[in-house]
Amino acid sequence: MKIKVETRGLGKRYKEVVALAPTDLQVQHGEFLTLLGPSGSGKTTLLQMIAGLVMPTQGRLLIDGVDATDIPASARGVGLVFQSYALFPHMSVGDNVAYPLRMRRVARDQIKRSVHDALTMVRMQDFAGRYPSELSGGQQQRVALARCFVYRPSVILLDEPLGALDKKLREHMQLEIRRLHRELNATFIYVTHDQEEALTMSDRICLMNDARIEQIGTPRDLYDRPESRFAADFLGHSNLLDAEVYAGVLNWRGLSLPIPQESAEFVGPASLLVRPESAELVAPGTGFIRGVVSQAIFTGSDMRVIIDIGDGQQFFVRTNRELARAPGDTVGITWNARESVLLTR
Ligand SMILES: Nc1ncnc2c1ncn2[C@@H]1O[C@H](COP(=O)(O)OP(=O)(O)O)[C@@H](O)[C@H]1O
Ligand SMILES: [Mg+2]
Repeated sequence: MKIKVETRGLGKRYKEVVALAPTDLQVQHGEFLTLLGPSGSGKTTLLQMIAGLVMPTQGRLLIDGVDATDIPASARGVGLVFQSYALFPHMSVGDNVAYPLRMRRVARDQIKRSVHDALTMVRMQDFAGRYPSELSGGQQQRVALARCFVYRPSVILLDEPLGALDKKLREHMQLEIRRLHRELNATFIYVTHDQEEALTMSDRICLMNDARIEQIGTPRDLYDRPESRFAADFLGHSNLLDAEVYAGVLNWRGLSLPIPQESAEFVGPASLLVRPESAELVAPGTGFIRGVVSQAIFTGSDMRVIIDIGDGQQFFVRTNRELARAPGDTVGITWNARESVLLTR
């Protein structure tokens, strides 16, 4: 695998504010990498430094193995798409998409062909003569995408590009962007704070927290094997049982709960993570712990059951649609210990 973009101790400070702590990151050629994290975690800062729009205060950036830290943005072969579409309102769709090519003094015939191809890829070929004000939000974002990749940058950076769209359109555009990624054979670095979006779209997710990388891996790695409470909480729903581990069990409220095999040697304070879909409701008196159903919510595809397990804590279980339990019922809860994760930070 070829490394397309690499940061070596790349960091940014604004006086006392650390926007990005020194960061090492490698993005493979052709990869779809998502920077995921809460607002203020440094995602945009990292992306803008790769784009060349923000200068780092330390470290280096390499593109194709070449030090690009001091190369101006326009010479990096990097395209950028923002949430605000930033189309030129006084230019037609066709002229908007042609703009980067005109700036690069591409021949007129070539521009015509490239614009047509780019608009066809985003399924907007019939709208070349329209103005941005005559388009819906989703259509404008398609045009912004076409304008970004019309000059075939080998790295495409997208900063919350779907943030302004409603849920249905956003989900549709997620699939469209994935399709474009396949067709363009470019490296995509995508910023979002939406964990579902990150799980759906990414080859790998780089989870950011507090101006640094918290964990990096495939969507499955992050969901199934989070390395911290932060990662467990940020992706998906998590039930966390906090207690002390000794002698290979979690001593939780006087019970001895099993911990996964790979953590058998651990001793000390920890949290056991149980995902809602790993857990199951069983008869009271059986299972690992017990509780009282507080809500059973029908979501169409399944039931989401919230159970009070004492001390003000709730436990969330996802079960099949046919579950016959009502608020007030006492239940036992069991889970597959192999699917649980012991978190020690
Ligand atoms: N131009 C700036 N001046 C001062 N602080 C900034 C500037 N840009 C970003 N920051 C700070 O850096 C941190 C990271 O910001 P940002 O990269 O925009 O986060 P994200 O995109 O994850 O929301 C935040 O605390 C933000 O306030
Ligand atoms: Mg941002």
